[in-house]
Order: sequence, then structure tokens, then C-alpha cells
Amino acid sequence: MALKTQWGILGLGKIAHKFAHDLALVPSAQLTAVASSSKERAMSFAEKHQALKAYGEYTALYNDESVDVIYIAGVHTDHYAHSCAALAAGKAVFCEKPLGINAREVKEMIALAQGNNVFFMEALWSRFNPALRALKKGIDSGRLGDLRHIQASFSMDRLNDDPAGRLLNTKLGGGSLLDIGIYPIFLAYFFLGMPEEIIAKAHFNTQGTEIQTSIIFHYHQAQAQLYSSLTHPIKMDAKLFGSKGEVTIHPTWHETEKLTWLLSGAETEETHPKAGLGYVHEIEEVHFCLMENQKESSLWSHTDSLNLISLLDTVREKAGIRFPQEP
Ligand SMILES: NC(=O)c1ccc[n+]([C@@H]2O[C@H](COP(=O)([O-])OP(=O)(O)OC[C@H]3O[C@@H](n4cnc5c(N)ncnc54)[C@H](OP(=O)(O)O)[C@@H]3O)[C@@H](O)[C@H]2O)c1
Repeated sequence: MALKTQWGILGLGKIAHKFAHDLALVPSAQLTAVASSSKERAMSFAEKHQALKAYGEYTALYNDESVDVIYIAGVHTDHYAHSCAALAAGKAVFCEKPLGINAREVKEMIALAQGNNVFFMEALWSRFNPALRALKKGIDSGRLGDLRHIQASFSMDRLNDDPAGRLLNTKLGGGSLLDIGIYPIFLAYFFLGMPEEIIAKAHFNTQGTEIQTSIIFHYHQAQAQLYSSLTHPIKMDAKLFGSKGEVTIHPTWHETEKLTWLLSGAETEETHPKAGLGYVHEIEEVHFCLMENQKESSLWSHTDSLNLISLLDTVREKAGIRFPQEP
């Protein structure tokens, strides 16, 4: 591998721009090539983010020998095909969340990565957020006592989006759950692990897209109340409650910099700054794994990704959320 990690980016939409912004802040990263279904989009993206090459199709990126790792940033329903093609070409892959639209896809992607002995990881940036990492340390050390309850919601008003666009189109895995519901579910999984039981109910719009889902994760001695929707904006804080007190994760909680602990009636505020837009931390984890020749992250492993998508599958099953391409 060259001195700098040579990155390719595939799918040049909104998140790809943010990711490229943060990639430029990591001294050991080089944006080598970008690929889009549109040559024009690839060229303007490359110019803006100083990528060395711009491809108007994806195969050239999979086959570009100068690229070490490909960041996959297309729509949910394309993560499987794009990741599999890149992994089959022997490329390390860092793929946006959700890794696939269901556990069947994710299992196959992991098997392909393991079979080809290449690095593969889900870009679950919140796992690497410094404040959430500090919170995890605090919870694991017993600062809140026994963790009893989590309240986490992710909601925004997107009902008037283009019905054919990725947020509202079921053919593209649309609905709140896979796009933003994944974050509250991640939070419960991060702090409490796999629940014993899941209860979930959803509302759908007239074209059958899930627009509002309430979820309860029931654990042996704890519960998580989780919610996602595209029907209204919210403050976007989240709370953890334990036998010794509570902690507030300040807005916007999945990319927060601030925590307030309330213990024995006294409030303590903590600030944990993030680098760049918050994607620097996951990029550094990819670099660490590649340097160490690890094929998966120990902080967000293949098992974690599979558990997360299995939880999403169960919520979908309970709430009747289906995508037309699934049997
Ligand atoms: N980690 C985060 O903070 C974060 C935030 C937002 C989104 N995401 C994830 O990133 C992914 C992309 O989200 P985004 O907001 O960047 O999406 P986007 O801007 O709507 O589109 C991203 C790319 O997907 C392809 N695309 C768009 N519409 C398509 C369609 N109808 N059919 C097939 N391909 C289409 C295009 O790729 P080409 O350029 O190749 O044409 C487009 O540039 C999603 O899976 C989402 O979950 C993550």
C-alpha cells in the first residue's frame, strides 16, 4: 500500500460530498478516484474535492489498481450489488448504512469479504462519535448504575419529498426505518445488546411507504423506547436512565458533542468535540484496520452489522414493512 490510503468513492450524492470533505482533513488519506452513473457528476465532484480521476461508470473504479478502499455511497438497495462487485474485484470496502436491505444480503456480503480475505465494514459513523464513545465508557464503568431505560427518536418532516426519491420510494428501501430508524436501534444495541423481545407498529403513506414507526426493545431488566418518522421534526436529544441517575445526549444526538449527566441531583455537562463533520473518526478506524491488516473493525464488526440488520428485519416483520423486491 502507498504511504497514503488511496480512496475511491462510488455514488456521488449528498453524503459522498460530506465524506469527501472529511477525507480531506485526514492527512493519511488521498481521494484517488470517484465514480458515478453520470460522468458529468463525477467530473464536477472530482474538481470540487480534488480527486485525481473521475469515472462515469463503476467498473473502472472496481478495477483501478491504484485504489485501496472504496467508500460505497449509493442508495440502500444498491449497497449489496456495489459492495459485492468491489469485494469480488479484491477491493477493501467501506459501505454506508444500512449495509444491505436485509440480513440475507448482509450475510452474503460478509461471506464474500471473508472468502476473498478483504476488509469490509459498515460506515456506521455514530459508533465512532467521541461523545458516544465516552458515554459507552461511562456506562460500562457503572457511572449510571444499572442501565434501565433508553429513549431515542429520529424524526424529520420529509413527507413532501419526491415520491420517487430514495426516502419515500419502497423500491429504493424507502421509509424512515432503514434511513434514520437505524440510529435509535443502533443506540439500544450499543448500550444494551440484543433484546429478548421486540414490539413495533408502523404507519404508511398512501403509496405504502412506512413513514412512522414506534418500537419497544424489551430486555431482561431494561427497556428501550425507540421511534423514527418522516412526518415531523423533533428536538433530537436522547436519554439513558440508570439506577443512579440519567444522562442526556444533546441534539443532534447521533452526531452529538455534548452530554449532561444527572447524578444525585447534580448536573455535570461534558463536551467531546468531533473532528470535521464527524466522519473523520470512522475514516481513521478504516485506516487503522488497513494498517494492521485487519479484515474487519473490532469496534464495529461484521457481527455487529449482522445484528443491526437482523434487528431492523425483526422490526419490519413485526410492523409489516415490506420492500417490493423481497420475496
Ligand atoms: N452516515 C451518514 O451520516 C449518512 C447520511 C446520509 C445518508 N447516508 C447513507 O448514504 C446513502 C446515500 O444517501 P444520500 O443522501 O447521499 O443519497 P442521494 O444523494 O439521494 O444519492 C446518492 C447516490 O445514489 C445514486 N442514486 C440516487 N438516486 C438513485 C436512484 N433513484 N436509483 C439508483 N441510484 C440512485 C446516485 O449515484 P451516482 O452518483 O452514481 O449516480 C447518487 O449520487 C444512503 O444509503 C444513506 O443511508 C448516510
